[in-house]
Amino acid sequence: MIPSLVWSTAYDIFSAELCEKSGMDAILVGDSLGMTVYGLKSTREVSKELMFPHIKAVCKTVKNTPVIVDFPFRSYDNPLIAVDTAEYFANSGATHFKLEGAEDFVLSAITELRTRDFLVTGHLGLTPQTALQWEVQGKKEKSAEKILSDAKLLEARGISFLVLECVPESLGKAVQESLQIPVIGIGAGRYVQGQVLVFDDLIGKTDPSFQPKFLRRFGNARDEALHALEKYKNAVINGEFPGEGEVY
Ligand code: KIV
Repeated sequence: MIPSLVWSTAYDIFSAELCEKSGMDAILVGDSLGMTVYGLKSTREVSKELMFPHIKAVCKTVKNTPVIVDFPFRSYDNPLIAVDTAEYFANSGATHFKLEGAEDFVLSAITELRTRDFLVTGHLGLTPQTALQWEVQGKKEKSAEKILSDAKLLEARGISFLVLECVPESLGKAVQESLQIPVIGIGAGRYVQGQVLVFDDLIGKTDPSFQPKFLRRFGNARDEALHALEKYKNAVINGEFPGEGEVY
């Protein structure tokens, strides 16, 4: 199967504008912004308040691309808290949210959100908000079966998409084949209906020492930006900038 849906994260007007211009099928305002924008250690440190201005910037920038917003850690501990979070984020224009896991409290939160007509995307496999270790999930039969049955539970609650992170390709395929909704993989192999990558990773902005197997850097933004800064500095030092045509 050739994946037909292509998603990227975006956190600001720059990334949102480029995602829309390049034809991304959806934009995820991911809580990965905790690491990429703020240098935090994990998404567990990300709050609703930290996410809010990023959601606002992305929602006001895009015209036609669906925007999906991560619910941060602890912001959906029960259905009431989940609805509170949704209403808070709705003030920035968001109506579609991604929640990690399939524990009972997550399922109840999804039901409550769907009752209020919010759209929901699920997230299974490696779930960064609760992962104890950064490793491929579902390698053993029992954990693969759990991911598969959780996926079906989430679908039955009315999610629109399932993000599946860091699982063997065979499990990605099995999950996709057992669901009607699209599975959006990040390290879930080639047999899912869509792919998602973090904007900063795919354009080559993040530290090159961060190199999970699934990540392909399609650009070299880090080097490009450094090169521009060095050229600017040299131009000033050499008296070339500002030039004759750059003064009033
Ligand atoms: O927060 C995020 O960017 C994500 C993607 C990695 C799927 O959840």
